[in-house]
Amino acid sequence: MKKFKIGIVGSTGAVGQEIIKLLEKREFPASEVRLLASPRSAGTEVEALGERRTVLETTPESFDGLDFAIFSAGSDNSVKYAHEAVKRNCVVIDNSSAFRMDPSVPLVVPEINPEALEEHQGIIANPNCSSAITLMAIYPLHRRFGLKRFYASTYQAVSGAGAMGPISLDQEVTEMVTGAPVPNALPSAFPHPIAFNLIPHVDTFREDGYTKEELKMGNESRKILSLPDLKVSCTCVRVPVYRAHSISINAEFVNNVNLPDAIQVLSSFDGLDFVQNLNENLYPMPVFSSEKENCQVGRVRVDHASDNGLAFWVTGDQLWKGAALNAIQIAEEMINRNCLRKIF
Ligand code: A2P
Repeated sequence: MKKFKIGIVGSTGAVGQEIIKLLEKREFPASEVRLLASPRSAGTEVEALGERRTVLETTPESFDGLDFAIFSAGSDNSVKYAHEAVKRNCVVIDNSSAFRMDPSVPLVVPEINPEALEEHQGIIANPNCSSAITLMAIYPLHRRFGLKRFYASTYQAVSGAGAMGPISLDQEVTEMVTGAPVPNALPSAFPHPIAFNLIPHVDTFREDGYTKEELKMGNESRKILSLPDLKVSCTCVRVPVYRAHSISINAEFVNNVNLPDAIQVLSSFDGLDFVQNLNENLYPMPVFSSEKENCQVGRVRVDHASDNGLAFWVTGDQLWKGAALNAIQIAEEMINRNCLRKIF
């Protein structure tokens, strides 16, 4: 079997670490794994895919000879290095928001719109974590009933804010429980206390009162589902959960909905588990979704506030399906479709 040379930009970060784990778990056909990060980490030795490896500083030349590079080092670094990589015949799978809405860049969830990969011009964008998880449940329902609009409220884990998110939660919980300040506490990743609190603020505010994160849900759903007129309203909330995002969704459809069909399409969709047994208090929760490749959907019911509506609850590991896993699945799908070099 052919093997591929793969780079990870942001390999020391929260998502980068998960990419390393998942490449190993999924037995990705890699002949080389190049760990890239900022000059701060260059020279650090880490254990990755069964070997001790040295982290390298990211430079334009870092991409020489690579087949793929998965970027998880923030938008600025994606803008700075993605085109340098493409110039060197290295396909970029980008986890940042830098290129998601660029019409020449496919935005892909492999279970939903893998055919978009055929049109790539060197860069493929990975969706925002909440969008990817939400669409894993919305798409099978859309195929059956025809999606018209949806409302979503997200419950986003602290690890979605980067490696500092869980550290901030830990420090605050320790301070509250012990009643004493944590020595040498690091500055919080959040604008307010996150322990025993909810923060209805993820990403920066826009003039219309929405946050950028909330707009991503609509913009990315329209692009991935190829539904330019889809209407979406979203509220994003940071919650004191370590890992896995949850999303409450009310979706309205063109056609009449019914529960047996809704449950059938949700239960049979690849990458999604239907988790619901109300007699046994069974429904998706972040603790069930952490370090799981599949997203989970449950609490499915007819929406009493709309004519053809369904209400449901979906959870997913935002570091996996919302980032690292989806990026690796994109690489795997490109290998299967043999569309890696098509544009070069
Ligand atoms: P480093 O650890 O060297 O700072 P997180 O989202 O968890 O905060 O991680 C961000 C990731 O992006 C880290 O791996 C970080 O590396 C990486 N990074 C930050 N700045 C740069 C840069 N200028 N060039 C390459 N990687 C960077």
